[in-house]
Amino acid sequence: MKILAIESSCDETAAAVVEDGRNIISSVVASQVEEHKLYGGVVPEIASRRHAEAIVPVVRQALEDADCTLSDIDAIGVTYAPGLIGALLVGVNFAKGLSLATGIPLVPVHHLRSHIASNYISNKELKPPFLCLVVSGGHSHIVMVEDYTKMKIIGKTRDDAAGEAFDKAARTMGMPYPGGIEMDRVAENGNPFAFKLPRPAVHDAPYDFSFSGLKTAVINLIHNSAQKGVELNKADVCASFRYAVVDCLVTNFIKAAEDLGQKKLVIAGGVSANSLLRRTLAEECKKRDWEMYMPEKSLCGDNAAMVGSQGYYEFLSGNIAGTDLNAFATMSI
Ligand code: KG4
Ligand code: ZN
Repeated sequence: MKILAIESSCDETAAAVVEDGRNIISSVVASQVEEHKLYGGVVPEIASRRHAEAIVPVVRQALEDADCTLSDIDAIGVTYAPGLIGALLVGVNFAKGLSLATGIPLVPVHHLRSHIASNYISNKELKPPFLCLVVSGGHSHIVMVEDYTKMKIIGKTRDDAAGEAFDKAARTMGMPYPGGIEMDRVAENGNPFAFKLPRPAVHDAPYDFSFSGLKTAVINLIHNSAQKGVELNKADVCASFRYAVVDCLVTNFIKAAEDLGQKKLVIAGGVSANSLLRRTLAEECKKRDWEMYMPEKSLCGDNAAMVGSQGYYEFLSGNIAGTDLNAFATMSI
């Protein structure tokens, strides 16, 4: 079964053709990041306009690369929540129009579910149930994936998402948006023990995260040093901050797995590309003889292949939308 998938929840316009939820036939991602860099973050109005310009050529390219026409497509999967509302609406309305004109069934796909599904492409043997840490620019969740379309949130951030904390800390150090990637790269040459940063925990909620205090601590460190004219070693600041974020993520994730008796751990979302997170979790799982899965780095960020994967399982479970499908800025998993 072939799904044409469309993603436009943030600053990437993407389309893909995916077979049986596991095999990418084509995948096209048009990134707007260079334009948003000028403003230090995503400007929603600009994102919507760029999606509207890019959606037709990106979908055409995905079909062409797959050597397909619409008559080869069995369903259209589209990200409908959560994300920037104006951005989501471009993908949703385009997919609705295409479905109406062709009679191809329309499948609504939740953005975080599709991040999780990127793992089904990278790890062909992976099947639910498993415990998943979903960490992106907008979310930091521990999710119990009971089945392909049945999930429960075990823990989540009370304030900033992990990616957001990385980006804001990186911006204070003058790194371009999205700073998480650059910070990860620079941190590889730094000492993670150079600066003592807090490990904020949420009282009575051991699986929840809080990153805003940690972000403020590193921003204060940078500002105070600048005021005193003390030059900080950038690599050491990056390494210490990355170590603190990863420590919080891994500690709560492992605790949740132990408490729930889960021995199959998975990571997903943009921040799952983080080198230290990947290494640390792999080591922790190895120590305990647990299974650990992660998406290949090229599938960690936003793309439409993961939408095609999740869309396949949503379709099998009967999740088909009509032309009244709407987009939603927020929605639980
Ligand atoms: O999943 P994603 O592409 O978009 C959202 O759905 O939010 O995640 C983007 C986030 C950004 O905050 C970016 O800085 C972060 O993922 N990110 C990283 C790394 N690569 C991307 N954060 C830390 N280390 C990385 N290697
Ligand atoms: Zn995302």
